Amino acid sequence: MAYSPSNPPLNCAREVDTSVFAGKTAVVTGGASGLSEAYVRALAAASVAVVIADVDPVRGSQLSSQLTNTRFVHCDVRKWEDQVRVFEEAAKFSRTGRLHYVVTNAGDGPAKPDLITIDINLQGTLFTTKLATHYFIKQNGTTQSNDQEDTCLVLIGSGAAFLDCPRGPCYQATKWASRGIMHSLRRTSHFHGSRVNMISPWYVQTNILTPEAFDHVRRSGVDLASAEDGGRCLLRILSDRSINGRSLFLSPKKWASSGYIDLDIDEYMGNERLQEIQADQIKSAPIELGLFGASDY
Ligand SMILES: NC(=O)c1ccc[n+]([C@@H]2O[C@H](COP(=O)([O-])OP(=O)(O)OC[C@H]3O[C@@H](n4cnc5c(N)ncnc54)[C@H](O)[C@@H]3O)[C@@H](O)[C@H]2O)c1
Repeated sequence: MAYSPSNPPLNCAREVDTSVFAGKTAVVTGGASGLSEAYVRALAAASVAVVIADVDPVRGSQLSSQLTNTRFVHCDVRKWEDQVRVFEEAAKFSRTGRLHYVVTNAGDGPAKPDLITIDINLQGTLFTTKLATHYFIKQNGTTQSNDQEDTCLVLIGSGAAFLDCPRGPCYQATKWASRGIMHSLRRTSHFHGSRVNMISPWYVQTNILTPEAFDHVRRSGVDLASAEDGGRCLLRILSDRSINGRSLFLSPKKWASSGYIDLDIDEYMGNERLQEIQADQIKSAPIELGLFGASDY
């Protein structure tokens, strides 16, 4: 689906048609626990074959043993070779040898600025993005046609991908970067029959922060979002081929009864000057020219 900046916000209350998932295969990085466990469970329940790529072999193997049609592959997303192996294993695990969905969930919380957060959240995500698009292009070629099978990369952001989160510039930088990756890919991914979207979670109780830190957030009067709604949000994106280049916010129920909402923050509607500047940005390399090579990414 070609990206269109004039698409209206997504209807998040719509039921997901899970029949589209028959025979599909997904990779979820950081898939062993936390929010990603909910993504893995939602995908498995929708009959998607799932490769769980995580640095934690105990939780990863445990989760995989509870769910049919899943496989755990040990992976530190900071290591290119580990990620290459994940994609090779996933292609072997897939019934058709094809990969359809990739979720870049592996994440690290705010830490002292030793740049490990950059290594995991940014370098790791760029590695996953490169491998996902390599496989998608290998499967579908670089010329748009009706024969191309739908594929989708889902980048995991955060409220820190668009809000002001004081005192955490390192984490916030990596999450804005995920949005940057989405903005860079969304206008050309349709050439290889693919889509790129983003889920930005609000606070969800996982191991990313200590239980005390989450208690403190609650005591401050803040409602949390739920991991299960994250799973439903993921299926909503994957099931609908028309969704490309969108950011969905995983939200507390008080802001969205479905648990996720299209905040419509990644478009340029209503800002004519910004649209004009954007048009100039791509004038020297217009979208119609397609991908210049499979290594564009
Ligand atoms: N939980 C929240 O409140 C929240 C809010 C906003 C964004 N997010 C984002 O959601 C994603 C998941 O967070 P979570 O809350 O589930 O965290 P979590 O800490 O509970 O789980 C993260 C998972 O990633 C794995 N992981 C960590 N480093 C890895 C590495 N180098 N290689 C492979 N796997 C690795 C961990 O083993 C774990 O299974 C992250 O990208 C995070 O930034 C979470």
